Amino acid sequence: MKKLCFATNNAHKVEEVQAILGQHFELLTLNQIGCQEELPETGNTLEANSLQKAQYLFDHYQVDCFADDSGLEVTALNGEPGVFSARYAGEQRSHADNIALLLKNLSGVEDRSAQFRTVITLILDGKVNQFEGIIKGKIIEELKGSEGFGYDPIFMPEGYEVTFAEMSIEEKGEISHRAKAVEKLISFLK
Ligand code: IMP
Repeated sequence: MKKLCFATNNAHKVEEVQAILGQHFELLTLNQIGCQEELPETGNTLEANSLQKAQYLFDHYQVDCFADDSGLEVTALNGEPGVFSARYAGEQRSHADNIALLLKNLSGVEDRSAQFRTVITLILDGKVNQFEGIIKGKIIEELKGSEGFGYDPIFMPEGYEVTFAEMSIEEKGEISHRAKAVEKLISFLK
């Protein structure tokens, strides 16, 4: 079975993707390939950052691998926070601070449209491929729900009357940006 490193130590993420890939590939975490250091992420786009992480693994560990990078893109803020979503309100990377800043920057703004976007970069046999997943929606004015993480309590996907934070992990997992990018990756790999 071909080994493929997923640039994460999140066992839950790995388990989810491994379940879909089945017999075709054996997924390895960063720990399993002996990578303890933080991967470089200094790009200005999701494409650049996910490529940077995958390229680092390929160059330093000579493994087939893939890396993902996601962000929230708000129309009225010209696509911000985007690639800076995790540290929008500062290096403390606080979800609560990030949400508070986003709501402040959107106060009185009529266009609340936004999307979550994921870019996965795969390096397989030295060849680079990227896969994108998008879920469109809007930013509501107050937090609703307690599931999920990040901006979930203020993001309401199109066609729904609940936020990501009011959905179960399974429900969100069927429609999320990450799920869509992973689906494309998997159909490419199969
Ligand atoms: P990552 O690339 O998956 O680590 O995502 C970077 C940042 O984007 C996270 O720290 C969150 O702030 C935001 N983000 C990405 N995906 C989601 C999501 O599914 N829900 C809420 N916030 C997200």
